[in-house]
Amino acid sequence: MALTFRLNGEDVRIADADPSATLLDWLREEKGLTGTKEGCNEGDCGACTVMVTDSRGAKALNACILFLPQLQGKSVRTVEGAAGPDGTLHPVQQAMVDHHGSQCGFCTPGFIMSMVTAHTNGATDFDDQLAGNLCRCTGYAPIIRAAEAAKGAPVPDWIAQDAPFLLPEKSRGEAAGRGAAPPSGKPEAAPPLCPASADELAELYAANPDATLVAGATDVGLWVTKQLRHLPQMIVLDGCADLKDIEVTDSTVRIGAMVDMNALRAAMQPLHPSFAEMLRRFASQQIRAAATVGGNIANGSPIGDTPPALIALNATVHLRKGDDRRELPLEDFFFDYGKQDRAPGEFVEAVSFPRQPDRLKVYKLSKRFDQDISAVLGAFNVTVEDGTITAARIAYGGMAGIPKRAANTEAALAGQPWAEASIQAAAAVLDQDFTPMSDMRASAVYRLETARNMLLRYFAERNGQPVSVLEVKP
Ligand SMILES: Cc1cc2nc3c(=O)[nH]c(=O)nc-3n(C[C@H](O)[C@H](O)[C@H](O)COP(=O)(O)OP(=O)(O)OC[C@H]3O[C@@H](n4cnc5c(N)ncnc54)[C@H](O)[C@@H]3O)c2cc1C
Ligand code: FES
Ligand code: FES
Repeated sequence: MALTFRLNGEDVRIADADPSATLLDWLREEKGLTGTKEGCNEGDCGACTVMVTDSRGAKALNACILFLPQLQGKSVRTVEGAAGPDGTLHPVQQAMVDHHGSQCGFCTPGFIMSMVTAHTNGATDFDDQLAGNLCRCTGYAPIIRAAEAAKGAPVPDWIAQDAPFLLPEKSRGEAAGRGAAPPSGKPEAAPPLCPASADELAELYAANPDATLVAGATDVGLWVTKQLRHLPQMIVLDGCADLKDIEVTDSTVRIGAMVDMNALRAAMQPLHPSFAEMLRRFASQQIRAAATVGGNIANGSPIGDTPPALIALNATVHLRKGDDRRELPLEDFFFDYGKQDRAPGEFVEAVSFPRQPDRLKVYKLSKRFDQDISAVLGAFNVTVEDGTITAARIAYGGMAGIPKRAANTEAALAGQPWAEASIQAAAAVLDQDFTPMSDMRASAVYRLETARNMLLRYFAERNGQPVSVLEVKP
């Protein structure tokens, strides 16, 4: 099966694509569509933003870390397709002209496509929608003014036509595109495998345990663009629709491995709003639209943002190899830096946690509010009954080689009165749980101090005190 998608309203079929070619390179080098810019080539600047629409709606994505096989059956719109066929500007383009939203113009196509996507989705939280687009010369105020000015305008017909694009039929395990002739002299790669369900994935991965699983590609994309790694065999998970569901019952919340961070954020808002607020600061809109929960767990990063929050919620990770399934507490999945409890051919199918009263607070500390990796992330879930702490689940990221529970701190809290003295005493033993490292994000001393302060912050916030700069009103 050849790779088929729609580009700016026209169907495209690629028979011989290099499977690890990025959409950005393909647009610029094969199609001559150079409006989509390359800034950082690692998902940080947004200059390469395009709008990608599938049956779940429109997303702004970074084309620089989007592999061609991830586009199967979708609609892609680049800045060249933002205006109508007769040249009529999209309302956000016209507003950018009217409000002087561009100077050198390098960032502008990326901003336009983020704004087109927000406009299509009716999203008006423009600070968040545009946090993944960097501008070095205009300044953000005119751009935000332009987005505000365009927000009431109807979605143009030529953009609305992207929505009902139908996914072509797929047969099981078929490959999308071939690696027969990589254009850049790269070594050849096998055609990517594109399962259409978790069952197909299980069978294909068990038979090809050395293959690279590609979920949102926000990590794997950088292996190719920055580390120049060759991926001889990719399994692209995007077609596994049954891994994209979130099930909320009276007793459990189950999150499929392919749920992206924006979907997770929406699901957490009513259940655990502090988790959702942290996810607002997970990278940027474009990365959140691609990055999956499964990838955030399976990559084993000590600074992945979801594992500490999920561990504090007493989460279980569901693993699958072929027809064999097993589950374990999420904290036990992480052995050591770079080592997880996952066998060859085994994948993360889902993560689940029990429904519970909301006691969770998640604090992300990073140098920049948006689009930054955590220096320290603390997640706190403490049960208090009749003034006594009866249970505590506390987990940190950035404090060890893995996301890790603070076992000694939890033990110091158990059975104590819910009082500042108990919290201070528990914070004092945090150095028995962690020996953090110093790196460019933070020194060891700073990490330990801020991790302690997060516990105090939890106590203050649970007692109704404002603790965030966002809550302090003049
Ligand atoms: C600009 C930028 C900003 C970022 N900011 C943050 C941030 O603020 N917080 C944060 O936590 N992370 C951040 N990241 C890292 C990244 O976005 C996350 O780790 C993300 O969750 C990875 O998910 P993915 O779907 O993109 O994984 P992929 O890149 O597709 O895969 C990552 C790894 O997991 C494996 N994998 C994927 N799915 C599965 C599965 N179901 N089972 C088994 N293995 C699997 C892959 O084979 C690969 O080894 C950032 C990345 C970028 C580029
Ligand atoms: S080029 Fe910077 S995000 Fe893609
Ligand atoms: S207009 Fe120059 S970088 Fe934004």
